[in-house]
Amino acid sequence: MRINRKLCFVLVVLVPVSFFCFHVLTKSDKVVAVWNREAPGNILDNTILQPESKYSHISLKWKDDVLELLPKNSCKCEAEATLNIPFRQELIGKPFAVDFSKAVEPSLFEDTYRRREQEYINFKMRSYNPVDKFIVAAANSPLQYPVQGLEVSLLATIGTFDVAAEVDGVTIKGASEKQITLSSPLLDNLNRQLQLISYTNTIFHPNTADTIQFQTSGHTATFTINVRHPIIPKLYDAGSSTSAKYNISALVTIATKTFLRYDKLQNLINSIRKFYPTVTIIIADDSDTPQKVEGAFIEQYFMPFGKGWFAGRNLAISQVSTKYVLWVDDDFIFCSHTKIEKLVEVLEKTSLDLVGGAVREITGYYTTYRQKISIQPGGKEGDCLRTNQGYHHVIEGFPNCVVADGVVNFFLGRTEKMLKVGFDPRLSRVAHLEFFIDGLRELHVGSCDDVIVDHASKIHLPWSQTQTDKKYSKFRYPKTSSSKNLQHELFYFKNRLKCMTGN
Ligand SMILES: *[C@@H]1O[C@H](CO)[C@@H](O)[C@H](O)[C@H]1NC(C)=O
Repeated sequence: MRINRKLCFVLVVLVPVSFFCFHVLTKSDKVVAVWNREAPGNILDNTILQPESKYSHISLKWKDDVLELLPKNSCKCEAEATLNIPFRQELIGKPFAVDFSKAVEPSLFEDTYRRREQEYINFKMRSYNPVDKFIVAAANSPLQYPVQGLEVSLLATIGTFDVAAEVDGVTIKGASEKQITLSSPLLDNLNRQLQLISYTNTIFHPNTADTIQFQTSGHTATFTINVRHPIIPKLYDAGSSTSAKYNISALVTIATKTFLRYDKLQNLINSIRKFYPTVTIIIADDSDTPQKVEGAFIEQYFMPFGKGWFAGRNLAISQVSTKYVLWVDDDFIFCSHTKIEKLVEVLEKTSLDLVGGAVREITGYYTTYRQKISIQPGGKEGDCLRTNQGYHHVIEGFPNCVVADGVVNFFLGRTEKMLKVGFDPRLSRVAHLEFFIDGLRELHVGSCDDVIVDHASKIHLPWSQTQTDKKYSKFRYPKTSSSKNLQHELFYFKNRLKCMTGN
């Protein structure tokens, strides 16, 4: 009886487990294209200045001061004309106009221009957000029905309205004010006037929006106007390459942080040089007795003793001047599978900002550390952080690559995006996931398991440990729980999280 019950229990457990395994093994991976979306052209076209035929008979009077504010197809830099008063330059400076295209060597201009435009197209596609799409709700509006005397008004919260032209037969109340009211007995004239409303923000903010109420008797529509500077591109010139392949030295900088372990670091550098003899290596070093690392294309930055893990990453990455930065730990070893080109290809061809590889241990086992991270709202006590091993979906065209939220500490990232998220220098000891949590809404993260770097053995027999190893372990893995505490404190306060679950 007892045995039976045990067997039964085992069966009850085993059957669901095997079903679960079956499910995991047979689960078909969803493959998704993450190539950049086509960015739409200019929102404002010239149709308002050249009206449809049904409005062409309506006469109007243009207001030059408002017209001037409309975006034009091509801007010009011309020094403003000024009065020539004595000491003007000394007192208030001199108007100037500088042509940046002159900074490019004339014989290289054509090629440089072509590269810039290509990078710009890619940048626009990557930074395009469908939220910015201009959507016009087609007219199904009561304005089409009234046959006499109609009135509409627009109400802004932080800007003012005006008109670019005054249309005959329309009465305007409130020009240059927060609320503008238009009335006319003629529907066409009123509609034409509505095409010529201008909005001016009165509060200066680099990126905000105004909510506009659009009203006519008994009906209100609400829409928003984005008030913001355009995105300033940050493009990297990887130089002209004669071959079709990527020039890794021009595109990638390898960054690492070291602390005491110069033997390991030297092994890393030697292994990199076997495959990439001219790629720049940046080393952030916070050892107490720093040693100079010699070699071409190496930049070593010394930091105060024990500044720590993330401070070092921050410093190293801040010195990168290439489009991409490859993060490696100082005890990694490049091998024939460490193909940076493959990771570059992924970032060049998709909207991903960061792509991780795989780290192979001495046992042959390798890890990609793919994580799905989510935040669940948790009320007054703070939110809940959830991390799960796994990924969201496979990337079309890259069968070895998936989209995830966090990856292993061997990754290629867009320098620009990495700087934006940054590595919190308060995290001085073991930290990794924290960067991906800070970057959750900023970074589009991927992981490819066919780009592999070796990990120098972590297994140290006590009698084979050198003095340096012992010292390193003391700092890196402190006995006290103070560093864990600090991590948790930061989650609690900085990220406003109350707890974390995971697997
Ligand atoms: C690759 O880039 C490096 C650094 O910018 C440059 O010195 C080298 O000439 C380039 N190589 C090719 C083949 O274009």
